[in-house]
Amino acid sequence: MPEVSNAILGTILASPCAIVIFGATGDLTSRKLLPAIYNLSKDGLLHPDTVVVGFARRPKTDDEFRQEMLKGVNSFSRSRPADNTPWNKLAERLFYHQSTFEDAHGYASLATRLADLDQKYGLSGRRLYYLSTSPAEFSTIVHQLGEAGLGNIDPFNSNAWRRVIVEKPFGHDLASAQELNQQINRVFDESQVYRIDHYLGKQTVQNLLAFRFANGIFEPIWNRRYVDHVQVTVAEDIGVEGRGGYFDTAGTLRDMLQNHLMQLLTLVAMEPPVSLDGDAIRDEKVRVLKSILPFTPEQVESLTVRGQYVRGDRNGQAIIGYLEERGVSPQSHTETYACVQLAIDNWRWYGVPFYLRSGKHLKYKGSEISIHFNRAPGVLFNTPQRGAGANVLTLRIQPRESIGLQINAKRPGTSTAVTPVQMNFQYHEAFGSYSPEAYERLLLDAILGDSTLFIRRDEVESAWNIIDQIEDSWAVGQPPLKFYAPGSWGPDEANQLMRKSGRYWEEFPQ
Ligand SMILES: NC(=O)c1ccc[n+]([C@@H]2O[C@H](COP(=O)([O-])OP(=O)(O)OC[C@H]3O[C@@H](n4cnc5c(N)ncnc54)[C@H](OP(=O)(O)O)[C@@H]3O)[C@@H](O)[C@H]2O)c1
Repeated sequence: MPEVSNAILGTILASPCAIVIFGATGDLTSRKLLPAIYNLSKDGLLHPDTVVVGFARRPKTDDEFRQEMLKGVNSFSRSRPADNTPWNKLAERLFYHQSTFEDAHGYASLATRLADLDQKYGLSGRRLYYLSTSPAEFSTIVHQLGEAGLGNIDPFNSNAWRRVIVEKPFGHDLASAQELNQQINRVFDESQVYRIDHYLGKQTVQNLLAFRFANGIFEPIWNRRYVDHVQVTVAEDIGVEGRGGYFDTAGTLRDMLQNHLMQLLTLVAMEPPVSLDGDAIRDEKVRVLKSILPFTPEQVESLTVRGQYVRGDRNGQAIIGYLEERGVSPQSHTETYACVQLAIDNWRWYGVPFYLRSGKHLKYKGSEISIHFNRAPGVLFNTPQRGAGANVLTLRIQPRESIGLQINAKRPGTSTAVTPVQMNFQYHEAFGSYSPEAYERLLLDAILGDSTLFIRRDEVESAWNIIDQIEDSWAVGQPPLKFYAPGSWGPDEANQLMRKSGRYWEEFPQ
């Protein structure tokens, strides 16, 4: 049970615990995790006795580790550079534990160290393990934690808990995700497992639920009678950025659609949950995933597009092609762009297409969801522009968090011509610039035992089930890989997919 659910503002609510980060010398720890822990600590949201233990292979003293983490906070924290007082307080409880993930002795000594810290800081056996490592290491670490008794909870200590946060990607396909789930569940009960998708930690994504279910005017029109189609775009304006080795084994469908875009889709399409309880929300999300119509190979051919960027330039700057990136096979057929048209076969969404697209080196960086409503009959006002006539509700997740509604307005003058205009709500204008980083929210929720914003086992498996159907055809070259220039919106086939039903991709930024 969560200690306090949805707690984000104000005073300390969390009990002290040990956060053990596996992979503590890696990029994610210094870029995201330590800055998040620092900010939570500085804002008084972590108990002052909370300790952090970094676990990794390189020899390092506690002091060296502290210096490295300070560098990370000074470079990446939303509040930087670090203030001396809160940083020093946190640094006193920051430790480094050197071991390989495979070495049982490293876990035995970790157990002793954690028991000492329990005593010293009154942690009562509360432990949050964060697997910030390559996915290939997840099962080794979990197995070793189990062998060292670090997954068990003392039945006589009702204050103790053990939780494990697992980074993405969670599996490579359905079979590997199931296997990983089985391995994790041998040591940790499902209620102890927190599969992270940092998109769910973003304020706008959480606001989707508030937007839908705290406003009376949208819910009655949030269905097939009023909605023509839905678009979800997660666009990057950069390439693989040194992650070519990993990315080449994954591709955009696995790396982005299986998790981030599917999560956004479920939040848009789900039924109202019976409560804001984690399982109530996740039950509804799973129902959406299970209602997605399976793809036949013919449908994969006609309803999906895969692309790869080639050499080009953007704003006068030369961009190397994907095949020239370090770690990428020169013969690679891995997609850096994916577009998929899905159908949700339930009463609410029957006949409403959902279009998902994501890619690297696209025209702009941005993530947004747009709900395109049916057009008004054109008998009175002529709306000649492309895409005009329909009201479009746009939920912008990044870079500027906002919500916009496109309406048609009469142009000034003597004619009756109408033109689309935007009504916009900007988060920072309404609420100021304070916005906790996604990892702050997610770490705090895991410490509080609130799993609402984490992915449940059946969710991850249902999402892989759909992705596998597409991957099966893509693996045999159907449809063929298309190529696109950096700085474009991807292959033209994605536009054709829309155009054949008289639809268009939403232009952005607006
Ligand atoms: N980086 C990001 O911004 C980002 C964003 C979203 C998700 N993720 C996910 O987060 C996870 C971590 O990513 P990352 O970029 O931080 O990885 P990384 O920079 O490659 O770090 C890997 C860490 O694992 C340790 N390690 C590797 N093999 C080990 C072994 N056999 N024994 C002990 N330690 C070992 C390394 O320790 P040594 O250096 O001491 O060898 C290092 O601390 C991945 O699952 C990734 O997909 C990362």
